[in-house]
Amino acid sequence: MSETQAASPVKKVNPNAPTEETVLSVQHYTDRLFKFRITRPGSFRFRSGEFVMIGLPKEDGKPLLRAYSIASPSWDEELEFFSIKVPDGPLTSRLCDIKPGDKVLLGKKPTGTLVHDALTPAKRLYMFSTGTGIAPFASLMRDPETYQKFDEVILTHTCREISELAYGEELTAALPEDPLCDEYAHKFRLYNSVTREDFPRMGRITDLIESGKLFEDLGVPPLNAETDRVMICGSMQMIQDTKALCEKAGLVEGSNAAPADFVIEKAFAG
Ligand code: A2P
Repeated sequence: MSETQAASPVKKVNPNAPTEETVLSVQHYTDRLFKFRITRPGSFRFRSGEFVMIGLPKEDGKPLLRAYSIASPSWDEELEFFSIKVPDGPLTSRLCDIKPGDKVLLGKKPTGTLVHDALTPAKRLYMFSTGTGIAPFASLMRDPETYQKFDEVILTHTCREISELAYGEELTAALPEDPLCDEYAHKFRLYNSVTREDFPRMGRITDLIESGKLFEDLGVPPLNAETDRVMICGSMQMIQDTKALCEKAGLVEGSNAAPADFVIEKAFAG
């Protein structure tokens, strides 16, 4: 060993430290919602529907990270995220100002339960979402495996206002041109509604399930454990209320370790 090598201090490298990625594009939908895409490291693997920690460095240089659902499918060469802006949120109040070329921190351990592996096979998949809870389903609706596993895929998206439905509508409109899912676009249906503005379809998803209007509008039978599987993503209360309706219909909650009829995950914010 040379003298110089012996003298240099050993630098500890944290193998789990986030990587620094580059922002490729940013699109604002409303003053509360935006989408952004970042570079994806070659070694970054995830299953469609999972979430990962992302963030920005704080003033002291330490990372400020929050869990975000990855909105792009697992085959995509870039990573997409759909975010809310919370004016006093430590991360989102800064993240909403990012521009192409800026750096974002990306965690190394994606995880989650809104994945194909946590559900047993069936005819129909419902993805019930409110607000930014649509993000994991933006990933799954662009994954061919979703259509190989289910004959029918129904995404519901409920927001307070019409303008907040734009991301889901844009994804749906693009599906017939999707490089991998174009041939499955006929299996997919978007069912959206709003709760605080006049719109042809109004009401919380829980009310639309309970009244039977959802199934009437779609021309399908009510929720049934034989034919239907469900993924739920929204606020804590929305999840609890929708989960109760699934259980009332006889569906059993699943997980990665024990796949079953429905799975839940909180939409992240802050
Ligand atoms: P509402 O306007 O009646 O509260 P939020 O932005 O608060 O997460 O809400 C997003 C959407 O989810 C809104 O349309 C909201 O309806 C709806 N929502 C809120 N709580 C529930 C719940 N417990 N069950 C079903 N939908 C809900």
